[in-house]
Amino acid sequence: MHTVIAIDGPAASGKSTVARQIAEHLGYTYVNTGAMYRAVTWWLLEKGVDTSDAAAVEKAVRQARVECRIEKGETIFRLDGVDPMPHVRDARVNDKVSQVASVPYVREVLVSKQQSLAGHADLVMEGRDIGTVVFPKAHSKFFIDADPVVRAKRRQGQGEADVIAKRDKIDSSRKTSPLTRAADAYLIDSSTLSIEEVVSRALEHLSKSS
Ligand code: CDP
Repeated sequence: MHTVIAIDGPAASGKSTVARQIAEHLGYTYVNTGAMYRAVTWWLLEKGVDTSDAAAVEKAVRQARVECRIEKGETIFRLDGVDPMPHVRDARVNDKVSQVASVPYVREVLVSKQQSLAGHADLVMEGRDIGTVVFPKAHSKFFIDADPVVRAKRRQGQGEADVIAKRDKIDSSRKTSPLTRAADAYLIDSSTLSIEEVVSRALEHLSKSS
């Protein structure tokens, strides 16, 4: 088992950028688990599966060949041999991803793939349930939060149509592994901080706790 740093938080809290920079700084592999839920969502939409029908989602995902591995320090994710990553920020994916991520079977499959990555490299893994479910014994845990108005503005500034309040509501209220802060996660509120400030606070915390 390699070292895992878990970073969780709501949509557009800045956790992806922060996680990527911490991974670069430490020489760890960066893993974006949200991209995996997005990839499955895109794949289902391409197949014409009704994402509001949990049974249909489960049936389709049971038949999929899901590959997830690390190659040359990068996470490789394929569904039936296809790379969905060019499509994962599509507006239709933003709209449906939380619905798909609330299906227990989807989570079961992806969580087990995510856990297996720690057998191969030191990781900085970001998502919604990394510190609570995927790696409850992670070496370090962070919860990056920000005011909802600030987060909505950030996402708008990225030029994406993304109703993050709707996703946050579904993510926080779903039955299987809802978005919550692990009791032992170090909270950083990024509302008034730059990315550099968040990264330096996180690195400072890591150096104190190691
Ligand atoms: O980057 P952004 O904050 O927009 O979201 P993301 O990290 O790409 O995650 C997209 C969606 O995937 C979330 O809204 C959740 O519904 C789901 N997700 C999840 O359920 N569990 C994770 N570990 C990561 C993402």
